[in-house]
Amino acid sequence: MKEFKRTLVTSALPYANGPLHIGHLAGAYVPADIYVRYLRLKKEDVIFIGGSDEHGVPITIRARKEGVTPKDIIDRYHYQMKETFEKMGISYDIYGRTSSDTHHKMAQDIFRTLYDNGKLIQKTSEQYYDPEAKMFLADRYITGECPHCHNDKAYGDQCEKCGSALSPTELINPVSTVTGCKPIMKETTHWYLPLDDYQEWLSKWILEGHKEWRPNVYGQCKSWLDMGLQPRAVSRDLDWGIPVPVEGAEGKVLYVWFDAPIGYISNTKDFCDANPERGSWETWWKDPETRMVNFIGKDNIVFHCIVFPTMLKAEGSFNITDNVPANEFLNLEDDKISTSRNWAVWVHEYLEDFPGKADVLRYVLTANAPETKDNNFTWKDFQARNNNELVAIYGNFVNRALVLTAKYFDAKVPACGTLTDYDRQTLEEFKNVKERVESLLENFKFREAQKEAMNLARIGNKYLADTEPWKLAKTDMERVATILNIALQLVANLSIAFEPFLPFSSMRLRTMIGAPDCNWEQLGSIDILPADHQLGKAELLFEKIEDAQIDAQIEKLENSRKQNQAAEKKANPIKQTVDFADFEKIDIRVGTVLECQKVPKADKLLQFRIDDGLGGRTILSGIAQHYQPEELVGKQVCFIANLAPRKIRGIESQGMILSALDNDNSLAVITVPKEVAPGSEVC
Ligand code: 2FM
Ligand code: ZN
Repeated sequence: MKEFKRTLVTSALPYANGPLHIGHLAGAYVPADIYVRYLRLKKEDVIFIGGSDEHGVPITIRARKEGVTPKDIIDRYHYQMKETFEKMGISYDIYGRTSSDTHHKMAQDIFRTLYDNGKLIQKTSEQYYDPEAKMFLADRYITGECPHCHNDKAYGDQCEKCGSALSPTELINPVSTVTGCKPIMKETTHWYLPLDDYQEWLSKWILEGHKEWRPNVYGQCKSWLDMGLQPRAVSRDLDWGIPVPVEGAEGKVLYVWFDAPIGYISNTKDFCDANPERGSWETWWKDPETRMVNFIGKDNIVFHCIVFPTMLKAEGSFNITDNVPANEFLNLEDDKISTSRNWAVWVHEYLEDFPGKADVLRYVLTANAPETKDNNFTWKDFQARNNNELVAIYGNFVNRALVLTAKYFDAKVPACGTLTDYDRQTLEEFKNVKERVESLLENFKFREAQKEAMNLARIGNKYLADTEPWKLAKTDMERVATILNIALQLVANLSIAFEPFLPFSSMRLRTMIGAPDCNWEQLGSIDILPADHQLGKAELLFEKIEDAQIDAQIEKLENSRKQNQAAEKKANPIKQTVDFADFEKIDIRVGTVLECQKVPKADKLLQFRIDDGLGGRTILSGIAQHYQPEELVGKQVCFIANLAPRKIRGIESQGMILSALDNDNSLAVITVPKEVAPGSEVC
């Protein structure tokens, strides 16, 4: 295997158009951070580059919706995301932004080099144009009917209902979302990266040269290559982005997916300019002894494995990525995470609701990491992993070891005496932990690596449970000393093994054991803490999460679900037109509620006795969850008087009481604002 002197790690630059959710963290940020922390602990030369992606259509859409400028949007979310990352312990060396001058210049320079060297092709084609707004329409600004499932709200690039990828010209009855008018076709000129010219090179480089890539990444690349690559436009007609640096290109900007990955380069430059002792940015991007690893989610694979490498190859002077350990998606409570449907756990809200528990989320997201397939986050699992693993295994072991040492040895590490066979067997079990964790991390198997760390705590718990030092304290203090010495060495090992995964907890644990300077090389050793070493104060490393906290989170999601259902209902199209003659057939009247009561064994039903001006009638209505019966007595309600009678639960219902269905799915009975005679017609 090729040897490298340094590693450049990047994680996808999130769009600055909304807050971060747990799917982002699980996809690209927590794994990248674990990897970087591990390399740093190994004293390898590594820099970790991140930043906000501040161009692209979604930002302009959000700005338009809110009636503010795109700059307002990116300023809001750039700082919010930066802070969230810091609080989650995502340890970037730099978190930059693609609106910076350095980035604009870098992206324009690269475009210009490609242009000057004839690496781009210029093509004129017809695209949708909004004649009222006088602008070409990005795919997302056009909606229409999906040719596959006939959803009438499909976007120009995708139908969110059936998931088909679309091009705007496939939409039936396209409409501009900017003005609502019908777009026209108009000629426009753009620059294209001829991916097809690089097909052979890409196939060789990926399919032959990178068989070690994750199967999901390799497989996706293979299917793109098998389909045959086409030239891709790298410019857009848009008023938000980096101007195309070519004469005659007024009003055109670089395509966001052209400039965003260049953000990795420009942010490296800003970092190196501010930290010259870490080398020049060219060292990190052009020296063949530097390797690059890009952490991303699966929706970014094609850009990182095909488009960006082609850009760099065409430019000619840059290194190309070595690995792209993309994760699959994380679902939430068995449903796809969705910003527009507010079906998400927002990380900044999590940090407010669970203060000091960044590590718990890191732990759960790694334990459930969607490394090989989509995975699911549930609040119940979150609680169980905290209570049954972090608290009951890791925290419990640490606490027992420290409390017993405080009790029997004044919190000083006791000397290790003669080892029994059982001691040796226990020590044997964690001897190879360093090798195992390293091999897993180097192969981007973060779930398994974290499991190995937790396994150390399991070994420790079992060891204490089996040796029962608290029982030996009266008879054999020498033996107790040996047991606790071994347990404390295991505790120190845990603080090292978990450091890439749970950095905050490892630091707290180091304080508790009074050993701030443990280092990775000591992992697997049994003499990290010398005899007589003074421990610090024992505190609980993790605390139980109660049902009430989890229920509150589940309720939050339930509210989102209800709002979505109501919105979907609202979005239901008006029913088919009916003739006036048909409408006239329905006899709607006002009646006064004389009696109202619950129907036994039917949660939803209320039974009404109505004065209908004609001698009275009984009507059943499914509104018991929205009203107490007594609230309605005396009210004048509207009802359909000529609906054919139906028997429900053995009672004949002679009509239907009308109600309005609100956004939150609650029902409001329709009443009249002024008293009228019972039996009055509604007309
Ligand atoms: O999918 C996204 O959120 C993109 N903003 C990722 C860009 S990654 C890189 F190219 F910057
Ligand atoms: Zn569809």
